[in-house]
Amino acid sequence: MADASKSPQCSGEGATRRGFLGGAATAAALPLAASIGGVAAQDRAPSTNVDAADEPLDLELTINGKPHRLSLDARTSLLDALRDHAGLTGAKKGCDHGQCGACTVHVDGSRVLSCLTLAVMAEGRSVTTIEGLAAPGEALHPMQQAFIDHDAFQCGYCTPGQIMSAVACVREGHAESPAEIREYMSGNLCRCAAYPNIVAAIEQARSEMEKA
Ligand code: FES
Ligand code: FES
Repeated sequence: MADASKSPQCSGEGATRRGFLGGAATAAALPLAASIGGVAAQDRAPSTNVDAADEPLDLELTINGKPHRLSLDARTSLLDALRDHAGLTGAKKGCDHGQCGACTVHVDGSRVLSCLTLAVMAEGRSVTTIEGLAAPGEALHPMQQAFIDHDAFQCGYCTPGQIMSAVACVREGHAESPAEIREYMSGNLCRCAAYPNIVAAIEQARSEMEKA
């Protein structure tokens, strides 16, 4: 699972798409995929048999509290599964290489780069996207409201990833000062350079989240 904290290239606890694709051509990649993340990777590790690898996998992903049954190529990233198969386009594809943070979502409450995470690795886990951050019909999450209050975006393309990362940043206890926020949000790039407003928004939301 590609951890989105601090560095966009940080690969976190589990298998990444990059790691998988890089190693899948060799048998040595399979023990790696099977041993990480504490999920059913062993059962799901794609076969080296080319024909079998081309067979779609039937997965059930829990996204924003709802089950989604998807039939996917084993190499499908979580980002593509969300956007192209589950119809959830909030997570954005900026670079598709783990460099921008636009694709950040939560898996079991932790931020991950969904472009570097295989969808299969999320089976049996709880995936939260920007669409599920606030309950339907209820008030915006304090982080969403703070981004609006502080005008913390311009084009908005990076914003879903910024908000998902920011929520995790606060929950991790890594938002205690502007300097710490900048450090732990450094994996989320903003081409519009809304950084001062983003830091201000996170400081406001941190106070709100601590009261809740
Ligand atoms: S880091 Fe995933 S799209 Fe850029
Ligand atoms: S608001 Fe445009 S990329 Fe961040």
